[in-house]
Amino acid sequence: MTNTVAVIGGGVIGGGWAARFALMGWSVRVYDPDPEAAGRLSGVMNNARLALPGLSDVALPDEGAVVLCASVAEAVAGADWIQESVPERLKIKHRVLAEIQGACPGGAIIGSSTSGFKPSQLQQGALRPGQIMVAHPFNPVYLLPLCELVTTEASSADQVARACDTLSGIGMFPLHLRGQIDAHIADRLLEAVWREALWMFRDSIATTGEIDEAIRMGFGLCWAQMGLFETCRIAGRAAGMRHFTEQSGPCLQRPWTGLTDVPDLSEALIDAVAGQSDAQSGMHTIDALERIRDTNLVAMMRGLKAQNWGAGAVLRAQDARIAGDGGFHPPYAAAIVTGDRAVPLDWVDYNGHMNEARYLQAFGDATDRFMEMIGCDAAHIAAGGSYFTAETHIRHIDEAKAGARIRVETLCLLGKGAKMHLFHQMFCGERLLATGELFLLHVSLDTRRPCAPSAAIADALGTIARAHGGLPRPGGVGRAAGRK
Ligand SMILES: NC(=O)c1ccc[n+]([C@@H]2O[C@H](COP(=O)([O-])OP(=O)(O)OC[C@H]3O[C@@H](n4cnc5c(N)ncnc54)[C@H](O)[C@@H]3O)[C@@H](O)[C@H]2O)c1
Repeated sequence: MTNTVAVIGGGVIGGGWAARFALMGWSVRVYDPDPEAAGRLSGVMNNARLALPGLSDVALPDEGAVVLCASVAEAVAGADWIQESVPERLKIKHRVLAEIQGACPGGAIIGSSTSGFKPSQLQQGALRPGQIMVAHPFNPVYLLPLCELVTTEASSADQVARACDTLSGIGMFPLHLRGQIDAHIADRLLEAVWREALWMFRDSIATTGEIDEAIRMGFGLCWAQMGLFETCRIAGRAAGMRHFTEQSGPCLQRPWTGLTDVPDLSEALIDAVAGQSDAQSGMHTIDALERIRDTNLVAMMRGLKAQNWGAGAVLRAQDARIAGDGGFHPPYAAAIVTGDRAVPLDWVDYNGHMNEARYLQAFGDATDRFMEMIGCDAAHIAAGGSYFTAETHIRHIDEAKAGARIRVETLCLLGKGAKMHLFHQMFCGERLLATGELFLLHVSLDTRRPCAPSAAIADALGTIARAHGGLPRPGGVGRAAGRK
């Protein structure tokens, strides 16, 4: 059964929540009194459709419907999760939360996107305080996994566990805080950096551009994959974190930073910051900057995914949750679906379509999947046997754009002794995009020479090859380059 989320407030953050939930298969109801909300929401949905599905190496569930509702009551009726994302003013939040609780199921979770308020502040005067918790995401919500979950003792262990499960289920990383503080963890860190940046700007030590370069050319890259403490730990070398802390300690006393003093946010300072920032990146529209940001995030997160690290490990866990057992079983009376995924944003080249090298990547992934199906899995490889590709021929027939769902179907043309001959066809819906014909040899990873696979693999491969031998051969089998 499809789950339903009600998103109350469809601005930058509410729109991002709506997109993430919808792309993870939830049915979404949005309430926002602003007449411009529908247009904004569809813009966020379009960005998310290009970016989020490509983070996954398996197909996401069918996209859930997104419906705009005329009232809070209509949106929250029967909802499993309600996400409040209205402006950051306690009075508005209290009014909206009361309206939500007056109409929503008692068992639903109400998450608030608040950046600064504590859950106990949100729960003041509430009908069912334990139902309300802080679920604080980061922009763009449809790509960044972190969600700070902040609860009070009013929430039961079951409510907290359900909240964590739901957030993990939509591919997020719920970080359940040990206690409540103003602005949670991440925004406290950000505020310290923001304050110091404003000091340096005000004192004409650095421009907005120079401060951005100081972050993105150096520690920003380290922090994105190891955070603060792990990065420092390495700097301490063999002597470790103790050495680093002792060494950097005296600097804290000097001090280097503006501590908690806040620069006067005068009109002149705001003008100067805004002016320099416009000069720095005003040549790009906000839409273009969002696209650049999303493409970079997808590329970085997919890079981390290959290393199974940080945000990339969260992506892998989500793929495993979605994929299940793959669902293909004997009698192999048709080509086997060995790939079903969306084209990632960073697979697209200067021609605006999937780059030729990515076709090989998709076919390579399909071959890996086929190998797993016949038993050439991680355990077999660890035991010293695997397949090496000896020859590949790819035909590029049609284009695929970012976010397009591509499916690879595989026929086994030969599976005998060390030899394996596969023919992959790549489709977008019914449209044939490409074919990939591969000849592989089973090898010993000790001698690096061909050898027969295990009896179990030979048996599985032979069964599929015999079944596929009775199927019609698709056009293009055995073709050489340039020959019609
Ligand atoms: N912008 C960020 O980077 C960010 C990040 C994390 C969390 N947050 C938090 O998310 C919340 C929303 O912030 P935002 O940046 O999306 O703001 P926003 O101004 O972009 O969106 C707020 C939306 O709420 C709507 N709204 C106003 N009154 C409403 C009502 N009574 N019922 C329903 N909708 C109503 C507005 O029309 C608007 O579309 C805030 O609590 C903020 O602290 C923001």
